[in-house]
Parts: sequence; C-alpha cells; structure tokens
Amino acid sequence: MSESINSHPDCSRSVQNGMKMWGGRFAAGPSSSMDALNKSISFDQRLWQVDIDGSVAYAKETDEDIHTANERRLTEIIGPVGGKLHTGRSRNDQVATDLRMWLKDEIVIIEGLLVKILDVLCNRAETELDIVMPGYTHLQRAQPVRWSHFLMSYAVSFKSDYVRLNSLLPEIDELPLGSGAVAGNPLGINREYLASLLAFSNVALNSMHAVSDRDFVAQFLQWAALTGIHLSRLSEDLIIYSTKEFRFITMSDQYSSGSSLMPQKKNPDVLELLRGKAGRLIGNHTGFMCTLKGLPSTYSKDLQEDKEPLFDSVDQIKIMLDAAHGVLATLTINANACRSALSFDMLATDVAYYLVRKGVPFREAHHIVGKLVVLAEGKQCHLKDIALKDLQSIDHRFADDYAQIWDFEKSMEQYSATGSTAHAAVWQQIATIREFIMNTKERFTIEQ
Ligand code: ARG
Repeated sequence: MSESINSHPDCSRSVQNGMKMWGGRFAAGPSSSMDALNKSISFDQRLWQVDIDGSVAYAKETDEDIHTANERRLTEIIGPVGGKLHTGRSRNDQVATDLRMWLKDEIVIIEGLLVKILDVLCNRAETELDIVMPGYTHLQRAQPVRWSHFLMSYAVSFKSDYVRLNSLLPEIDELPLGSGAVAGNPLGINREYLASLLAFSNVALNSMHAVSDRDFVAQFLQWAALTGIHLSRLSEDLIIYSTKEFRFITMSDQYSSGSSLMPQKKNPDVLELLRGKAGRLIGNHTGFMCTLKGLPSTYSKDLQEDKEPLFDSVDQIKIMLDAAHGVLATLTINANACRSALSFDMLATDVAYYLVRKGVPFREAHHIVGKLVVLAEGKQCHLKDIALKDLQSIDHRFADDYAQIWDFEKSMEQYSATGSTAHAAVWQQIATIREFIMNTKERFTIEQ
C-alpha cells in the first residue's frame, strides 16, 4: 500500500460520489476545501501495517474471516461482508490503537540507535583515556580533564534518554480498541483477548479517556525535543573544537562539506543540522501541546494533528541519532592540540588545594591564591614561576614542594572521587555505561 488509498480507481470514484465511511446521512459530499482540510491520507497511510494488524485481530473477534485491513478496500475486494469489520468499532478507538502500535515499534528502533551511540562513546573513551584537554566552564578554560571524561558526560545524557524513552512504554502499552466512539462496546467484545492478539500488556481502563488520550504523543515529542537538545549541545561543542583556533578534533570528510566560494573551507554542516533540527523537534512538541490545550474530553478532530509532528519527530530523531553516531565514530582527536591548550593558570585551584592539605581553610586558601595571581601579574610571570621567597612573603606555609603542583596528569589524578576525571574514575564511568549496554543487548544487535 505504498500509494495513497484514494488513488485507487475504485476508491477515488467512491470519494467523488461522497461515499465517506460516515456518508449515510449526507446528501452531498464535502466541499473541496473541507476535503483538503480534513484529509489525512497523505500522512496517515504510513499506519497501514498496524491498521491491518488491528483489523485482523478485530475481525477475529467478530467471527469474520477477513484478512486485509482497510475497510473500504476490504469491501471493494470482498464485497459487503467487509462492512461487518467496523461493527462496534469507531475510527476513534482505531486510530488511537494504530498510533500506539506504530510508536511501540519505532521506540524499539530508536533505542537501538541510542545504544549504538553509547557504544561508540565507550569505545572512544576507552582507547583515548590518556588524552588531556581543558575542561571549560562559561566557555573559559577551567581545569584539565580527560577527553574521555568529556565523552562520557554525553554518554550519561544518552543513557538517560534511553531510560526516559523506555519509561514511556508502559503508558503506550494500553489498548484503546473496544472503546468505540466514546461509550465503549455493546457487543460483548473481549478486550483482554484483543490485547493479547495485538501484544498490548493492558486494556485501557476508560473508553472516554482511551479515545482522546494523546499524552503518550506529547511525552514522546517532549522526549525527542530533549534528546535533540543533547545532540545540539554535543554538536556545538564539536563545532567549536573543530575550528582552526581549537583544532581539538578533525571531522571526517564523510561528515563535512565545502564552500561553493572558498576552496579552503571544510564546514561541519552535519553538526549544524543536528543543532538546527533540535529547534524543529522543540517546535513539534510545543505545537502539539497547543493543539491539546483546551480540548473538551473525548475525541475531537483536532487530534488528527497528532500524526504529522509525531511522524516528523520520529523520522528526524532517527536520522539525527544515526548521523551523530557516524560523526562520533569517524572524527579524529588531535591529542597534541588538546594538550597545547592547557595552561598552568588552570592549576590555580590546585594551589588552593595545596594549602588546604597544609590545614588552611579553603576560603582563606582561595584568598591567598588570589594575592598570588596579582603578584604574578605584577611580575609578568606565571603562578608556577613565582620565587619561593615571594610566595612566603604572602604566606609562610608555602615550601619547596610548591614546584610539584605543576603537573597536569598529577592534577587530574587528584580527582579520584566517583564521577571525577582521574583515570580510574573515568574508567568506572565507562564500565557502568558498558554494563548498561550489556543489559539492553538482549534486545539489540549492535553493529560495530
Ligand atoms: N483521521 C482521524 C484521526 O487521525 C481518524 C479518526 C476520525 N474520527 C472521527 N470521528 N472523525 O484522528
């Protein structure tokens, strides 16, 4: 059913005749402008598979031997008996069922893409654990950190994205079918049996709620927007790191493009698109929240507006996750450039810790180092190069061991608490995410 159902010759004839599913009480067909506004076939045709599955299950319930889904096509193919399919069913419970079935399948695919990103982040973090770079706050050089620590910071975001996405499933996993238009089903249908046929864990508790509930759509759109924001922030970091001024990373040619005017240019278009598309995902969420706001209970046609943002966010986030995986798998990290960006002023905090270890309260230590900074500025030298006698003129607790502060590796190794940048602490982060991946592996085959 790759082409529009309405494009079928028999079908378009019946539409021309105004024979809608609901056409019985109407003397004339809809106006062309009503039709243009109302028509959802151009986008909801992608629900065809789940719609067929739902109809097959429903047909079993009504004891009819019917094997294809769309009721109109069914009737065209097998004759009037197809008309029995809709007995006790409404498009209200049908469309809500279709959408839930469709989204459950898509979520499994998206989770697989997230796992692939986690996997590549762990692989890189493991092999590139010794690469040191400046850690930034306010986009100013702050303290030396491991490149792997940076990578794992995003792994934590994507792990949370996975967990959040997975947590949407129980709510989506409730079957609306059998709710009819609003009041429920008068023909003794066994909804628990229907649920088992359609792989739903639960039956929706209340028919009025079931036909109108799109919270799961709103939640998915919010999830996609937030995941898009994570991808956007990662992209922004990588864009900065790829500039000639930084040179921390080099994007692979596969994920770069050139300028039509300036031959020397290599642009990070993929990253810019990831950043840009995050706005679109936020828009899909915001727009649909506006659609829901103020709707009366049960079904109103406004709810047809759920599909385009949902389909778009699903499509976009899949493309985005796949591209982000590609970027992360193929970029080159330039260890020397990362290291050259370190400067000894980034160890000023370590001078304060040096004093703390000698029993000075941190507040006082911070103040003393502030004085050292002023002294160094006056002498136009680095903190590291202040002579011992000058140090001691500011505080008598400075001693020869001051010289041992100025080692970036040693500095990082102090940060050994869980979650920190010391070798073992980052290793533990990698191990934790790897364990998480292992626990999801039963569901996915990770392409290495
Ligand atoms: N195309 C509609 C939608 O997507 C199907 C449900 C129509 N129901 C109705 N009562 N008009 O929401």
